[in-house]
Amino acid sequence: MVNAEIGVIGGSGLYSFLEDVTEVRVETPYGEPSDSVFMGEIGGRRVAFLPRHGRGHHVPPHRINYRANLWALRSVGVRQVLGPCAVGGLRPEYGPGTLLVPDQLVDRTKARTQTFYDGETRADGVVPNVAHLSFADPYCPKGRKAALAAARGRDWEPVDGGTLVVIEGPRFSTRAESRWHAAMGWSVVGMTGHPEAVLARELGLCYSTMTLVTDLDAGAETGQGVSHGEVLEVFAANVDRLRSVLFDVVAALPAEADRDCPCAHALDGIDTGIELP
Ligand code: ADE
Repeated sequence: MVNAEIGVIGGSGLYSFLEDVTEVRVETPYGEPSDSVFMGEIGGRRVAFLPRHGRGHHVPPHRINYRANLWALRSVGVRQVLGPCAVGGLRPEYGPGTLLVPDQLVDRTKARTQTFYDGETRADGVVPNVAHLSFADPYCPKGRKAALAAARGRDWEPVDGGTLVVIEGPRFSTRAESRWHAAMGWSVVGMTGHPEAVLARELGLCYSTMTLVTDLDAGAETGQGVSHGEVLEVFAANVDRLRSVLFDVVAALPAEADRDCPCAHALDGIDTGIELP
């Protein structure tokens, strides 16, 4: 079985993240992941890439099977996940092209399954226990550190910390929602960072993200509001350097034997009732 230690879940514009890949279809007790997992190598590290929206972007943010995606990555051996995503800036100084590595998130999604541990009988008859995990610090500190260093190494000064608010989508925010998000002190807004982060935590995986600002959100700009075309255009203009930074992050992540962050111990002492892959 081909396996990998690091997973990358990439969205808009990152579909061909790796070269020389082996495509692996993974079945999960939660149904179909967004796509196959593409296994390759970066600087001697084995990496699994999963296109978050599927090839051709056919799965919108609110219909992504986040549980299947994280389970599939863990099934192929992944223990550290990077989940870069496109976001809107909530402050004028976070304009298009800004790279922000958040340290907090706010969940404003409405209808997404957020847990593996809900006591509901799975399709295969297994019944998980109910479990409540700590999520005070949603991102892996080691992953964040590696992301910041990698961006600086490519002369792309990142914003260190801030809050990513995740909305349900697929529509963008109204101007009033956007102004409210900004007034709360939140930094950037996206549609996919959650429940990806918490489901990674529930599987004992490290998870961190790098957010690429593709637009100023409706409350921070005076024009017509955000368009999907604008998001794709700015992402495309930055995708090469984002890819280079991600390669450097992968190379800098700790080896499995040195993974001693809180995420690695998230399940210590918790009886989840299910066997992890
Ligand atoms: N992704 C990219 N830009 C966004 C925005 N303004 N709101 C939500 N998600 C986004």
